[in-house]
Order: sequence, then C-alpha cells, then structure tokens
Amino acid sequence: MFKVVIAVVLLLMLLFGNQAGNAQTLDRDQLVQTTTLCRACHRDKFESGEANPHSALDLPEWQQDTGVMLSCVGCHGDVTEHIRGGGSLGTVLGFRSESTQEINDTCLNCHRATHPDFQRSEHALAGLTCTSCHSQHAHASGAEALLRAGPVTVPGGDRLSEVTQLCAGCHTESVTDFAFNERHRLREGVLDCASCHDPHSPQSRTLLGGFKQEACIDCHTDKGGPFVFEHQASRIEGCTACHSAHGSPNRHMLSHQRVGELCFTCHAAVPQFHSGFSPVAPVRFGLDTQCTNCHSTIHGSNFDPLFLK
Ligand code: HEC
Ligand code: HEC
Ligand code: HEC
Ligand code: HEC
Ligand code: HEC
Ligand code: HEC
Ligand code: HEC
Ligand code: HEC
Ligand code: HEC
Ligand code: HEC
Repeated sequence: MFKVVIAVVLLLMLLFGNQAGNAQTLDRDQLVQTTTLCRACHRDKFESGEANPHSALDLPEWQQDTGVMLSCVGCHGDVTEHIRGGGSLGTVLGFRSESTQEINDTCLNCHRATHPDFQRSEHALAGLTCTSCHSQHAHASGAEALLRAGPVTVPGGDRLSEVTQLCAGCHTESVTDFAFNERHRLREGVLDCASCHDPHSPQSRTLLGGFKQEACIDCHTDKGGPFVFEHQASRIEGCTACHSAHGSPNRHMLSHQRVGELCFTCHAAVPQFHSGFSPVAPVRFGLDTQCTNCHSTIHGSNFDPLFLK
C-alpha cells in the first residue's frame, strides 16, 4: 500500500500540475500513466481485458508499454480529483447518478456513427441508457456485444441466445408468444429477438412497421417484391397486416385462425361470385374455405391482378 501511495504521488506530480485530467487534455504518454494509476487500485477491472472490444481503443505499443488494455478515462471522464483525492470520487463519471443524457452521450461520443437515432428509439424514450443493456465490466460470459446477462427464468431459458435472454428480462410476454405451435424457432436458436428488432432504432425503421418490413425480407426474400401487381394490404402495416410474427395458433402464423376471417377484416364486399363465403349469405363454400386456394399468390403477383396465379 505504501508503495502504491508513493507511486501515485509521483505520477500525479508528473502528470497533472494544475491541468484537468480528462481524455481530451491528456496526451498519450499521460494517458498511459493515468491508466497505470487506475490499475493500482482497480486491478479487477483489467482482468480479461484482451477479449474486450474496447481494447481496440489502445494502440499496440501502448499495451506493450503498460500491459494494460483499456483506456479507462475514455469512459470515466475527468479523473483528476478522483486520483488526487486518493479514492474520493470527485468528478469521476461513475454511470450511477448522472443523467441518462450524460451517460448516453459518453458512449455516443464514439458510437454515434453506428447508432445515430438512439435518442428517438422506444428504449431511449422510456429512459433506458446504453448501460441498461451493455456492461463494460459485468457482461454475460459469452461477451457478445458486451451484453448484460439476462435472467434465465423462462422455460428452456438456458437454451436462448444471450440477446434473447437479455430482452426476456424486461419483455417476458414477448417470449411467451414463442410458445405457440406455429412460431419462429427462437427457442431452438434459429433466430433471436435482434433478428427482427434493432433495439437502438426508432419504430419507423427495421424495428417495427415500415413498408413491407425490411427485416422479414432479409430472410423471406420471395415475399418482398417488387411485384407487377402488389397486394396493397402491406402498404401501411407491412407483413403484420396479416401475420403475428412472434407466433400464432394458425399454421402460417396468421393473425386470424381462419384465412377467410382474415381477408374479411379488410374485404367487406367481395364480388357476387363469392357470396357464399360471406357470413350472412347462404353458404356455398364453408367459411373455412381457403381463399388462398385460388388467390394463391397472396403476397403479390407478376401475372395476375387478382393474385390467382
Ligand atoms: C488511490 C486509489 C485509487 C486510484 C488510483 C483510482 N481509484 Fe477509482 N476508486 C477508488 C476507491 C477507493 C473507490 C470507491 C470510492 C467510493 O465508493 O466512495 C473508487 C471508485 C471509482 C469509480 C466508481 C465511481 C462511482 O460513482 O461509484 C470509478 C468509475 C473509478 N473509481 C474509476 C477510476 C479510474 C478510471 C481511475 C484511473 C484514472 C481510478 N479510479 C483510480 C480508488 C482509486
Ligand atoms: C466502455 C466504457 C468503459 C471503460 C473503457 C471502462 N469503464 Fe469502468 N465502468 C463503465 C460503466 C458503464 C460502469 C458502471 C457499471 C456497469 O455498467 O457495469 C463502470 C464502472 C466502473 C467502476 C465502479 C463499479 C464497480 O464495479 O466497482 C470502476 C471502479 C471502474 N468502472 C473502473 C474502470 C477502470 C479502472 C477502467 C480501465 C481499466 C474502466 N473502468 C474502463 C464503463 C467503462
Ligand atoms: C473512446 C471511444 C469509445 C467510448 C467512449 C465507448 N466506446 Fe464502445 N467501442 C469503441 C471502439 C473503438 C470499439 C471497438 C471497435 C468496434 O467494434 O467498433 C468499441 C466497441 C463496443 C462494443 C462492441 C462491439 C462489438 O462488435 O462487439 C460495444 C457493445 C460498445 N462499444 C458499447 C459501448 C458503450 C455502452 C459505451 C459507453 C459506456 C462505449 N461503448 C463507450 C469506442 C468507444
Ligand atoms: C435495449 C437494450 C440495448 C440498449 C439500450 C442499447 N443496446 Fe447496443 N446492443 C444491444 C443488443 C441486443 C446488441 C446485439 C445486436 C445484435 O446481435 O444484432 C447490441 C449491439 C451493440 C453494438 C455492436 C454493434 C451492433 O450494432 O451490432 C454496439 C457498438 C452497441 N450496441 C452500442 C450501444 C450504444 C452506444 C448504446 C446507447 C446509445 C446502446 N448500444 C444501447 C442492446 C442494446
Ligand atoms: C431494461 C429493460 C429492457 C430491456 C433489457 C429491453 N427492453 Fe425493450 N423496452 C423496454 C421499455 C421500458 C420499453 C418501452 C415500452 C414498454 O413499456 O413496453 C421497451 C420497448 C420495446 C419495444 C417497442 C414496444 C412497443 O410496444 O412499441 C420493442 C420492440 C422492444 N422493446 C424490444 C426489445 C428487444 C428486442 C430487446 C432485447 C434486445 C429489448 N427490448 C430489451 C425495456 C427493455
Ligand atoms: C420474426 C421477427 C421477430 C422476432 C424474432 C421477434 N419479434 Fe418482436 N415483433 C415483431 C413484429 C413484426 C412486431 C410488431 C407486431 C405488430 O405490430 O402487430 C413485434 C412486436 C414486438 C413488441 C411490441 C408488443 C407486441 O407484442 O406487439 C415487443 C415488446 C417485442 N416485439 C419484443 C420482442 C422480443 C423480446 C423478442 C425476442 C424474445 C422478439 N420481439 C422477437 C417481430 C419479431
Ligand atoms: C432470421 C431469419 C428470419 C427473419 C428475420 C424472419 N423470418 Fe420468418 N421464418 C424464418 C424461418 C427459418 C422460418 C421457417 C419456420 C421455422 O423456423 O420453423 C420462418 C417462418 C415464417 C412463417 C411461417 C411459414 C410457414 O411455414 O407457414 C411466416 C408467416 C414468417 N416466417 C413470417 C415472417 C415475418 C412476417 C417476419 C418479419 C416480421 C419474418 N418472418 C422474419 C426465418 C426468418
Ligand atoms: C394480405 C395478407 C398477407 C400479408 C400482408 C402478408 N402475408 Fe404472408 N401469408 C398470407 C397468407 C394468407 C398465407 C398463407 C398462404 C396459404 O394459405 O397458402 C401466408 C403465408 C406466408 C408464408 C408461408 C408460406 C409461404 O408461401 O412460404 C410466409 C413465409 C409469409 N407468408 C411471409 C410473409 C412476409 C415476409 C410478409 C411481408 C413481406 C407477408 N407474408 C405479408 C397473407 C399475408
Ligand atoms: C390489411 C387489409 C387487407 C387484408 C387483410 C387483405 N387484403 Fe386484399 N387488398 C387490400 C387492399 C387495400 C387491396 C387493394 C384494393 C383496391 O385497390 O381497391 C387489396 C386487393 C386485393 C385483391 C385484388 C383485387 C382488388 O380489389 O384490387 C385481391 C384478390 C385480394 N385483395 C384478396 C385478398 C385475400 C384473398 C385476402 C386474405 C388472404 C386479403 N386480400 C387480405 C387489403 C387487404
Ligand atoms: C374458388 C376459387 C376462389 C376462392 C376460394 C376465392 N376466390 Fe376470390 N376470386 C376468384 C376469382 C376467379 C375472381 C375473379 C372474379 C371475376 O373476375 O369476376 C376472384 C376475385 C376476387 C376479388 C376481386 C374483386 C374485384 O373487385 O375485382 C377479391 C377481393 C376476392 N376475390 C377475395 C376473395 C376472398 C376474401 C376469398 C375468401 C373468402 C376468396 N376471394 C376466395 C376465385 C376465388
């Protein structure tokens, strides 16, 4: 301990004089030495640094010089008072009492280019911060995108991907949707919540809605068109005009149990020819009749305006 104190005092004299010790005002040598100081008291924060993506912050020669991987001050801000005070917090940014804005801005300083719209996302609007989902020091064991570990209390939870486990912690009901017989195979790891949702983006883009849901078309390429004859149904709501994307009791994950019921939610009046299908008209075919037996290209057609072939 005595040695540490001596080292701290010497380095402080060397480093700071009277200037502020934040990342912007320190040159690289000073940063190296500052980080060495952090190590004296926070050794645990340096463990497994090599696997951490933030080690990319540090140049190779820096790592060689110091044996440390992380640029602590890049995230923890102005550390001068904290070091001078021998452990009193000072102005160090601790990601605890700061405003959500300040926390997000600290990360966005470097990540704005890839997450420009975060502030408009449902998650930011609900007061979440980057650190609600990511943790530099306490992430899940797989360390995928530094995600926090979610609870695995849902049935079969231990087989869910890290991403899905994280989401499950706050959206239990959505995970339950994947218990329907007809569902995307989330529990088998074929996809996860982030296959369709981007937790950083506003609803209008790949998250939800949007014209014909780009996320769906990434995998279901044949449904995306463009078709000569588009089915206008998906113009506004996209695929979810007809499908419950998590899962549903219907064989094709339709939002209604029977195809006819679904079609009638938008097509109140079908031509006389179809009268038998209407719930009030005399029955010619049963309501259970599959409209798609004839209108087989229901997602759009290049040959037939009525989607008959
Ligand atoms: C002389 C020992 C010492 C040095 C050097 C030191 N710290 Fe600390 N640090 C502490 C102690 C002790 C605490 C706990 C203070 C408390 O909880 O009141 C702490 C707490 C913190 C916290 C938590 C703040 C919070 O709001 O809870 C952060 C972040 C931190 N240190 C970062 C750093 C960084 C980055 C460096 C290097 C620039 C550094 N520390 C150098 C002793 C030190
Ligand atoms: C990418 C940003 C980032 C980097 C780089 C980073 N930290 Fe942190 N640190 C955080 C966040 C965010 C928290 C808040 C706790 C959490 O989210 O797990 C935190 C919390 C802490 C704490 C207090 C919490 C505790 O577990 O006691 C200490 C101490 C700390 N960091 C030290 C360091 C040191 C030392 C380094 C350099 C090796 C470092 N940090 C590098 C983001 C970072
Ligand atoms: C000083 C710049 C800087 C700051 C501040 C910073 N990062 Fe990073 N971050 C990087 C770099 C550089 C990488 C590694 C290269 C890359 O993948 O873009 C990275 C990687 C990541 C990754 C992993 C990407 C992957 O592909 O696995 C996540 C997640 C991340 N940062 C989140 C955060 C969070 C959350 C914060 C705030 C607590 C933060 N970062 C603060 C620069 C920064
Ligand atoms: C609601 C949870 C959540 C929040 C809030 C969140 N992230 Fe993420 N982030 C994730 C998930 C999940 C992934 C993994 C995405 C994947 O697998 O496609 C991820 C991935 C990343 C990556 C890796 C590159 C990428 O986009 O795939 C970076 C960098 C990142 N996040 C930074 C941030 C920053 C910066 C913030 C705050 C502005 C933030 N995240 C807020 C959940 C979140
Ligand atoms: C820390 C808790 C938390 C985590 C983790 C989290 N969310 Fe959220 N999420 C929220 C909150 C709060 C809202 C705001 C709306 C609400 O209350 O449902 C929200 C909203 C959403 C919405 C919009 C819902 C709507 O009704 O418009 C989607 C979609 C969503 N989250 C998906 C995800 C996905 C996917 C993940 C995992 C990558 C995730 N969330 C992780 C808390 C969380
Ligand atoms: C196959 C793509 C897909 C996957 C995988 C997926 N979602 Fe969704 N999710 C959607 C679509 C599309 C909607 C919009 C439903 C609507 O508007 O009717 C949605 C809606 C939501 C909503 C808003 C509330 C609701 O149910 O309408 C939340 C919250 C949500 N998803 C969370 C999750 C979580 C958590 C996971 C992982 C367990 C997940 N989603 C996996 C496509 C998906
Ligand atoms: C990551 C790839 C992926 C994404 C993204 C995706 N799906 Fe799927 N989807 C699949 C796979 C694979 C199947 C095969 C069924 C299974 O997994 O058991 C499937 C099955 C389906 C089925 C049932 C097919 C049948 O057998 O009747 C429907 C409907 C469907 N997806 C709609 C959607 C919608 C709507 C979206 C967007 C909200 C979407 N999918 C996003 C991969 C994806
Ligand atoms: C107008 C309603 C409607 C819309 C909008 C719609 N679908 Fe469908 N979809 C259906 C019906 C009905 C079926 C069942 C077809 C059958 O009975 O043969 C189906 C079946 C499917 C299937 C499984 C059968 C197959 O052909 O592979 C997939 C996958 C699918 N839809 C994906 C999508 C995607 C992706 C979107 C958005 C681009 C979308 N659907 C938009 C009504 C719709
Ligand atoms: C979400 C609403 C919606 C649903 C559900 C829906 N459609 Fe449509 N459909 C439309 C709209 C809007 C048009 C364009 C109508 C127009 O131009 O007058 C259309 C056009 C059509 C056309 C072309 C003939 C025409 O009037 O232009 C056929 C055939 C058709 N739909 C059959 C079906 C069948 C079969 C189903 C059930 C599988 C179905 N639709 C479900 C909204 C829907
Ligand atoms: C036995 C085959 C068959 C079935 C089953 C069928 N249709 Fe049709 N549908 C047709 C044919 C053929 C036409 C074109 C009729 C014409 O040219 O007058 C048509 C035309 C339509 C049109 C276009 C009407 C217009 O204004 O031009 C709509 C909408 C439609 N069907 C909806 C449905 C719905 C909804 C169902 C299920 C309840 C259904 N169809 C079931 C064969 C069928």
